[in-house]
Amino acid sequence: MEFIKVTENKEPYVALIELNRPKELNALNRQLMEEVRDALQQLDKNDAVRVIIITGNEQAFAAGADIKQMADKTAIDMLMIDQFSTWDQIRKTKKPIIAAVSGFALGGGCEFAMTCDMIIASETAKFGQPEIKIGTIPGAGGTQRLTKAIGKAKAMELILTGRFLSAEEAHFYGLVNKVVPKEMYLYEALQLAKEIAQLSPVAVQLAKESINRSFETHLDEGLTLERKNFYLTFASEDQKEGMKAFVEKRNPDFKGK
Ligand code: CAA
Repeated sequence: MEFIKVTENKEPYVALIELNRPKELNALNRQLMEEVRDALQQLDKNDAVRVIIITGNEQAFAAGADIKQMADKTAIDMLMIDQFSTWDQIRKTKKPIIAAVSGFALGGGCEFAMTCDMIIASETAKFGQPEIKIGTIPGAGGTQRLTKAIGKAKAMELILTGRFLSAEEAHFYGLVNKVVPKEMYLYEALQLAKEIAQLSPVAVQLAKESINRSFETHLDEGLTLERKNFYLTFASEDQKEGMKAFVEKRNPDFKGK
């Protein structure tokens, strides 16, 4: 594993996955997400694990999908690579997953945290879907999960402007379970994990499946439409300009083409 670190026994029955691309603020390239998927599949089969925590570092949970890896792709490249199909396998994990978030959880990083079952946030956490600023839209569930989590009006505001939500606001809107001082976010996630790990793993798994069913009944259709539209933005000059401008550290000049 190059981009993640897995500790099977962080506490009895609690495993920890740490995203480990610190120089790139844990930007989620394809390999990193494949490593997460493989680790989750292993942990899901491991009887010594009942709850899984996913975390980044103090500065960033993850600053999004890897823009440099995507910038030059065509819509057809994106469609054929279909990188977000990995995420479908992640969300099929049967054991509960807690995201312990400090710093940036943006774009794919916010979507990744929302793909988990619960979120514990440091007071420094910043959530957002800033894809619109680089000429594209969320493609890994943001338009669906954020809307369900915080309501249509606020989701519209965040996704259409790219504004960030502070940890306090994220708590107010019900996106996160709890906000704690920055030294405490992993500790707090571990406390929650330990409490769940003491309970019947069978009942916990069935409860998770049941809650997700209520949440996801129409999710598949929404995710499919969102993903196609995300890939479709790669047919626009604005996506090329937006991502190029990010890489070149300048403001984009969008032409509506
Ligand atoms: N992809 C690739 N590299 C990224 C990245 C990303 N999403 N986010 C940050 N990085 C890299 C930067 O390019 C930089 O690398 P270099 O030192 O080699 O230039 C390094 O991480 C540190 O970043 P900054 O210098 O920009 O740090 P900052 O503190 O000034 O700003 C930030 C932090 C506001 C998070 C800024 O990095 C940023 O805006 N990142 C992009 C956020 C974003 O647009 N995310 C959405 C991506 S698209 C997506 O996720 C699609 C989807 O739905 C799945």
